[in-house]
Amino acid sequence: MKIKSLTPEVVKDKVVIVRVDFNVPIKNRQVAEDTRIRTAIPTLKFCQENGAKKIHIISHLGRPKGKCDPKFTLKVIQPLLEALLETKVAFRTDLTSGKSLFQLHENIRFYPGEKTNEATFIQKILKGLSPDIFINDGFAVSHRAHASIIGLGSFLPSYPGILLQKEIAALSPYLHKKKMPGLTLVVGGAKMETKVPILKHFARTAENIIVGGALANTFLVAQGFNVAKSLYEPEAVEIAREILETAQVHKTGFHNLVDAICADDIQSKEVLDLPLEDIEGGMKIFDIGKKTVASFQEVLRHSGVIIWNGPVGCFEFPPFSNGTREILKTIAAQKSAKTILGGGDTLKALHQFGVESTAFSHVSTGGGAMLKFLEGEELPGIEILR
Ligand code: 3PG
Repeated sequence: MKIKSLTPEVVKDKVVIVRVDFNVPIKNRQVAEDTRIRTAIPTLKFCQENGAKKIHIISHLGRPKGKCDPKFTLKVIQPLLEALLETKVAFRTDLTSGKSLFQLHENIRFYPGEKTNEATFIQKILKGLSPDIFINDGFAVSHRAHASIIGLGSFLPSYPGILLQKEIAALSPYLHKKKMPGLTLVVGGAKMETKVPILKHFARTAENIIVGGALANTFLVAQGFNVAKSLYEPEAVEIAREILETAQVHKTGFHNLVDAICADDIQSKEVLDLPLEDIEGGMKIFDIGKKTVASFQEVLRHSGVIIWNGPVGCFEFPPFSNGTREILKTIAAQKSAKTILGGGDTLKALHQFGVESTAFSHVSTGGGAMLKFLEGEELPGIEILR
């Protein structure tokens, strides 16, 4: 994929807007997981070191519905950003420019024109900040056609940030429409909707697909199993059947649970590892069982490329954390394979189990954006840079 490159001349003496994705988990007004902030630092420092006149940092946080909501203020990011940049970062709330080199602007989704990509809103930003160039470094939000992404990108000379370039380079080799021998896709998480397109795509091109999380339950139903009271999506069973059929036609191994960690309730102390045939009554599946872990590990150990998005169980709860931890550690141990991870919950799992991101070939900052990119969809925030 060819896009322009960011060079020192491009930023020298320029007022720069950098669109980043600081949409990170916040707990007690503190950043709980900071990968997306750390990975934005190289571009910000690049602008500083190459003589940018002013660096306006724009991001969203959460989904505040076009109005100011203190729960989603980006002010909470300011101290960490100052520590990482080792300099002062001014915080601004009215989309105007101040004196400091670095200026972090309040959550861009506090403005209704952001999501609708309104021309008057784009003009407001251009008037308030008088930028010379636009840099998109928010790979994780590049699937959104919002004002601060495609709006600014269409009015200003636009360039990809360092993180964006890194993401494109790491993910592009897996965009093939043909079979990719040795590639295993691991998909977990709760909802089918966001994962269906990638599953459809890789049902043709991967060698193996492994599923876990609540979405695996919908596949279990499609495969004729009783999931008792487990969460599943009845309206998605048919699409699950189609994906299973596609996998069969294209000789893609489809690996689902063979046993499951079950309980009546997520808070329950009574937890059982049951073969699928024994799941009944009020039982709910909360994690993959030990036999499933072993069978997934077998597939992973023989894979040349592993792409993982979404946990395979309710890993935040200790009785149901084993599956996700074991899969994570198995993937981290595959030193001869290319290993690619993405998605907010996957990053949270990394953090919770103390596994360094350096253990993998690439940890993507994108959740939805990574999935859409790998499906072969053109992301508006990248297209605008061409
Ligand atoms: C993400 O977390 O995937 C991105 O920041 C995009 O957020 P959104 O789904 O609220 O647009």
